[in-house]
Amino acid sequence: RLEDALDLIEEVPDFPEPGVLFRDLSPLFGTAAGFATVVDALGERLAPEVESLAAVESRGFLLAAALGYARGIGVTLVRKPGKLPSVAGRIDYQLEYGTETLELPAGTVRAGGRVAVIDDVLATGGTAAAACALLDQVGAVVTDVAVVLELAVLGGRNQLPDVPVHALRTL
Ligand code: PRP
Ligand code: MG
Repeated sequence: RLEDALDLIEEVPDFPEPGVLFRDLSPLFGTAAGFATVVDALGERLAPEVESLAAVESRGFLLAAALGYARGIGVTLVRKPGKLPSVAGRIDYQLEYGTETLELPAGTVRAGGRVAVIDDVLATGGTAAAACALLDQVGAVVTDVAVVLELAVLGGRNQLPDVPVHALRTL
């Protein structure tokens, strides 16, 4: 059933630019049974001691909201720049072209808090690594990084600190 759910992910050639094969999770998110199946599967993989979830904007928000509700824990929104009135930390990281920034809201994660990072896709790892670094800056402990899809050829795992990385499907 998990494999059936993951098969709902579509491949879109040449998006957002020529030569890139985009993995579109919209059909998976849009199918009730598929969405529930991947949320449950991610939840089973998280460390038992997780106290809150760090959700990476924007597609990570969707997964983390459902996971947090199911588990009875809160969600912290790791946001793209300029969205937060009060920021605990900010990280700039390299993309293939240019840089990106993520921010952590002030007052949401306590020092020593055990937090899992949630996103849809692990590609180059820059995004998840930035989320981990932000949590580290405020003294939180990253328990897991959990994604639906890992594009292993891009080596994203190697960018991450020494934490368990859970991917429901690795390509
Ligand atoms: C995509 C994806 C991950 C990230 C993975 O997000 O949702 O967050 O890229 O790439 P990386 O491992 O190479 O950093 P994107 O920045 O396209 O934005 P979105 O989630 O807002 O659509
Ligand atoms: Mg994203």
